[in-house]
Amino acid sequence: MAENKKLRTPIVCVMGHVDHGKTSLLDKIRGTAVVAGEAGAITQHIGATEVPIDIIVNKCGQPQLINKFIVPGLLFIDTPGHHAFTSLRSRGGALADLAIVIVDINEGFMPQTIESLQILKRFKTPFVVAANKIDRIPGWRTNPEKPFAESFKNQSENVQQLIDTRIYELVGELYKLGFNSERYDRVTDFQKNVGIVPISAATGEGVADILMILLGLAQKFLESNLRFDANNPGTGTVLEIKEEKGLGTTIDVILYDGTLKKGDTIVVGSLGNPIITKVRALLKPRPLTEIQTEEKFKSVNEVTAAIGVKIAAPSLEKALAGTAVRVAGSDNADEIAKEIKTELEQV
Ligand code: GTP
Ligand code: MG
Repeated sequence: MAENKKLRTPIVCVMGHVDHGKTSLLDKIRGTAVVAGEAGAITQHIGATEVPIDIIVNKCGQPQLINKFIVPGLLFIDTPGHHAFTSLRSRGGALADLAIVIVDINEGFMPQTIESLQILKRFKTPFVVAANKIDRIPGWRTNPEKPFAESFKNQSENVQQLIDTRIYELVGELYKLGFNSERYDRVTDFQKNVGIVPISAATGEGVADILMILLGLAQKFLESNLRFDANNPGTGTVLEIKEEKGLGTTIDVILYDGTLKKGDTIVVGSLGNPIITKVRALLKPRPLTEIQTEEKFKSVNEVTAAIGVKIAAPSLEKALAGTAVRVAGSDNADEIAKEIKTELEQV
């Protein structure tokens, strides 16, 4: 669809308290697609997983919706209690277009849940709450991979009541932070109410519902913001600085606007003066490999937002996580360096 080319992939950050299931949910989203025999279509980027739109609508059992949505897919970013992530958010980089806040339904709100919500509030980022680990509710009858509503119908009255009680506790906590919320299937206007989706990252129950709501949010809130021109100079944020065998110091970057090419001059934030260097190689991990253990990368000539990519270039030793990466033209590298430095000094 030509229309798709005009929208970039929305970036969805998965946030929440330690151990509440952020990585498990992403594993589930990835794994389900593999089970569906669509591994080739899923790309695992650096610190990020891109899920194309056709896989999402199929997973939701609604392939006919493929023409209704104009986003090309969703780019999920896992957020460990990562310092780089906090600083990049507080820089107002607005990296996340949307978010999932995960909370263990058995534990309720914890400090990092609250912190995540405060960040989202500050940046006015639309989000959905995933009330995870429903399979741990005493008496829960598992219905693997089913939408929540279907699974809920198969539960005893006691379990149904317990779920509703827990959800109302979450509604109360959210209200204290200034958000109106409801169980997602009772929300009529997602612009006024945050949807809470009970899920299990372990069994896959409710995961399709989360994906559907995210697409709806993307469509509704982001259409104007996500339009972009692939001809824009690439702009991104440094997630991590890593030493790689044979490559020297590299930076893992989320590119959120424009195009980045091999040979481009880039300006990268640093503790001192920003680094001006030339891209020697652009590297993507192989599809569906675990980034932490991945050692083989695929070299590509160019990448377009939104995407996670590893950049190899000289002089990156002093690059700073959380700072900007911008492609420079033939004569404006110094000017861009000044802008990045000023931004950093304002933090
Ligand atoms: P950090 O990255 O450390 O912040 O944690 P996380 O939020 O990524 O949590 P992770 O996905 O690593 O899950 C923590 C533990 O909870 C693991 O042992 C998971 O197997 C388990 N877990 C996650 N989701 C579920 C679920 O839905 N049900 C059950 N039973 N266990 C789960
Ligand atoms: Mg994790």
